[in-house]
Amino acid sequence: MMPRRIYKVAVLGARGLVGQWLVKMLSGHPWFKLTALTSHEAAGAKYGKSVRWMAGGSMPAEAAELELVESDPKKIDADIVISALPTEAAKRLEPEFAREGFAVISKAAAYRLEERVPLIVPEVNPDHLQLLEAQRSSWNGLLVADPNCTTTILALPLKPIADAYGIRKVVVTTLQAASGAGYPGVPSLDLIDNVIPYIPGEEEKVRDELLKIMGSARGGRVEWARFEVAATCTRVPVLDGHLESVYVETEKPVDTDEAAKLMREFRGRPQELKLPTAPETPLVVLEGVDRPQPRFDRMAGSVPGMSVTVGRVRRGSSERSLMFLALGHNLVRGAAGSALLLAELLVAEGYV
Ligand SMILES: NC(=O)c1ccc[n+]([C@@H]2O[C@H](COP(=O)([O-])OP(=O)(O)OC[C@H]3O[C@@H](n4cnc5c(N)ncnc54)[C@H](OP(=O)(O)O)[C@@H]3O)[C@@H](O)[C@H]2O)c1
Repeated sequence: MMPRRIYKVAVLGARGLVGQWLVKMLSGHPWFKLTALTSHEAAGAKYGKSVRWMAGGSMPAEAAELELVESDPKKIDADIVISALPTEAAKRLEPEFAREGFAVISKAAAYRLEERVPLIVPEVNPDHLQLLEAQRSSWNGLLVADPNCTTTILALPLKPIADAYGIRKVVVTTLQAASGAGYPGVPSLDLIDNVIPYIPGEEEKVRDELLKIMGSARGGRVEWARFEVAATCTRVPVLDGHLESVYVETEKPVDTDEAAKLMREFRGRPQELKLPTAPETPLVVLEGVDRPQPRFDRMAGSVPGMSVTVGRVRRGSSERSLMFLALGHNLVRGAAGSALLLAELLVAEGYV
């Protein structure tokens, strides 16, 4: 589909890692035009002069010329605002933008679990956008949350499994890339030649966000899913790409080959609508026992980095269990790409 017009997009926190990937992916976008970039410390400076560019390739020329502004709704001309702010700043600023009439898509954790804020993986729970009705009484605009990167990469392969077999329990151990902590992130002397066995707050986020995303929306409310989730989240010395080792207990017996086929054939609303950032297949399922690997598979997908790669699909300890590994690019499918896909979904479904 093509929208009726070009939409103006602003990025809050544009100098951070997620902000930079948003700037990169917005360049040449067929529906969106980048009109504003915000910064806390460098407002007033040209983006091109004040950013340590880490998103690969060269910085898009049109972004380099933009003057950074403060995150103030009065200083921004946009239809859609994508927030890549740290949580505390997001908590304060995102409702101000929503109140002033902007459609806000948040990459921050601040409002993900709020009852009237939809938490969306576009292929998994687009129907949860019905929660936006409850926002109309207080805001002229709207606020939609995009999940934690680890949760998005987990929810995508779990969706076809949940639909076919039902889920009783998920046990996941993650090996998360350094860039997931933003820049400068974990000090190099803590991370090189090492694994950090704990990421503050991450395991609770994975559990709560997954249960909200996999829940059912009715009458403008989401009833959270009720299965058990046990997560162990670790940080490893990989630049980009979170790897997740997943064990699932199901309600019904699982046929491993059929489960792999269901994942391979899985498609969602973004594919149906042919959204510009939707990969043809949200999941790429590989056969080899040595995949997925971050270096080889993080840019998987017809839109690079937007597909999650699944491998080593095998039976667990009983016929009602399944094991696999999933890998996704934390800054693309886990952050900038998923926020853009969500923005496209909001436009395509008439919310913006
Ligand atoms: N990294 C990932 O893989 C990932 C994935 C999913 C979600 N997230 C979430 O996305 C958000 C951004 O993450 P990140 O990794 O990009 O962090 P980051 O590299 O630390 O960047 C955060 C940026 O926010 C800016 N900032 C701080 N306060 C601000 C304010 N009041 N107004 C405007 N800008 C402000 C800073 O910009 P200035 O220096 O210009 O002031 C900084 O560059 C966080 O909430 C994070 O939890 C990150």
